Amino acid sequence: MIEDFDVSSDWHVAAPYDFLARLRRERPVFPSEHLGAYVLTRYADVRAAYGDPRRFSSEGSLTISRSLTQRTRDRLGEHGSFLSSFVANVDPPDHTRLRRSVSRAFTPRAVAALERRFRQLNEDLLDRVEPRGSADFVTDLGHEPSIKLTARFIGVPEADEDFVQAHVKDWFQLFLSPQSPERQLDLADSFLTYLDYVDRLVAARAKEPRDDFTSLMTALIGDELSHREVVELISTILLGGNDTVPNQLGNTVLRLLREDCWPVPPALIPNAAEECMRIDGASLGSFRYARTDIPLHGRVIPAGSLVLLSTDSAAHDETVFPDPDRFLIDRPNADAHLVFGYGIHFCVGAALARLQLRTALTTLTHRLPALRLVPGPITYRKSLVGRGLTTLPVEW
Ligand code: HEM
Repeated sequence: MIEDFDVSSDWHVAAPYDFLARLRRERPVFPSEHLGAYVLTRYADVRAAYGDPRRFSSEGSLTISRSLTQRTRDRLGEHGSFLSSFVANVDPPDHTRLRRSVSRAFTPRAVAALERRFRQLNEDLLDRVEPRGSADFVTDLGHEPSIKLTARFIGVPEADEDFVQAHVKDWFQLFLSPQSPERQLDLADSFLTYLDYVDRLVAARAKEPRDDFTSLMTALIGDELSHREVVELISTILLGGNDTVPNQLGNTVLRLLREDCWPVPPALIPNAAEECMRIDGASLGSFRYARTDIPLHGRVIPAGSLVLLSTDSAAHDETVFPDPDRFLIDRPNADAHLVFGYGIHFCVGAALARLQLRTALTTLTHRLPALRLVPGPITYRKSLVGRGLTTLPVEW
C-alpha cells in the first residue's frame, strides 16, 4: 500500500487517485515526509486555504525546490533570488500592486482579440501536419500554436522565438528543479544570456512602444513597477503560456480519445474542456507557507511549514463531484475545479488558457475528425505539481 507521495515514481502524476482518496478520508492534513510539506486534500480545505492568504502565505512558495550552490549564486550575482518579486510568489500589499499592473494586459477585450490569431496558428500547423496521416501530438501538434501566440502577445519577434524557447526552459530548470552543481553553472550562463535579451527587449519598447505586453508593462516602470519586476513578469508569462496550456491540451485530447468522445460536438466543447481540466488537470496544486500555527481536523500545522494545496485531489473529492473518477462530458459543475487556483492568486491567464483550449479543440475536431490513438504505453513527465505527457502518438 502506498504510504507517501513519490515524485520519482510514475503513479505520482499518472494515477495517484486511490492514495488521494484515502488521504481525504483518513488523513486530511497529511504530513508528507517525501515532499517536506503538509498536504491538504479535501476540496473545502484546499479552497479555504487559497482564500486565506494571511495564514497561507505565497511568499517564496514558488521556489521551494531551489538548491543553488555558492558558485552558482556567485555567478548569478544580484539575480540569485530571481522570481522573488514574481506576482505568484508574493503576498499583499506587493501582490495587489503587481496584480493590478499585470491584469491590464488581460482584459476580456485583449484576450478575445487573440482568438483569430490563435485559430490561424492552428490552421497553419495543420496544413503542414495533416498530409502525414500520423503524428506525436505532444511534439508535432500541441505546443507550437501556444508558443507562437505567447511570443506575439509578449512582443518577441518571430526570428527570436527559438532562442527564447531554449533559454526559458533553462531558467525554469535552474530555479524550479534540483540540478547537479555543474549543470547549475551551465543553466546559470544560459539564464544570464536570456536576462540580457529581455533587458534589451524592454529597452527597445521603452524607446518605441508597440501593441504588446512588454510595451504595456515597460510604460509602468517607475510609477507602478520596477525594472526587475517587469523582467520577471515577462519571463514567467512566457513560461506560463508555453507550457501549461499545451500540457492541458495533451491531457484533454488523450482523455477524449480514450473515452470515445472524438470528435466532440461543437456545443459540448466548453464543458468537455472543463471536465478534462477537472479530471486531468495540468496543475496538481500550489504551495504555501503557514504564517501562524494552523489548527485543522485535530492537528496543528506549525508556523513556517510548507503546505501543498492539492487541487488534483480536490477535483476528485466525491462530496463535490459525484462519482469523481468518471468522465462525464456534461457534468453540471465541471467548472468548479480549482485547476487555476482560487482567490487573490487565481490564474490571471485563465481566460486566455480557456480560449486556447476551446479554439484548439474546435479546429482539431473539424480538421481531424478521424483522430485516434496509436496503441502503446502512455507516460508523463516526472513533476512535483505539473501534469504533462512526454509523447502521445496519434493517427487519422
Ligand atoms: C491550462 C493552463 C494553466 C493552468 C492550469 C494554470 C494554473 C495556474 C494556477 C494554479 C495559478 C495559481 C498559483 C497560486 O495560487 O500559487 C496560476 C497563476 C498564474 N498564472 Fe496560470 N495557468 C495556466 C495558464 C496560464 C497562462 C496562459 C498565463 C499567461 C499567459 C498564466 C499566467 C499566470 C500568472 C501570471 C499567475 C499568477 C497570478 C497571481 O499570483 O496573482 N497562466 N496559474
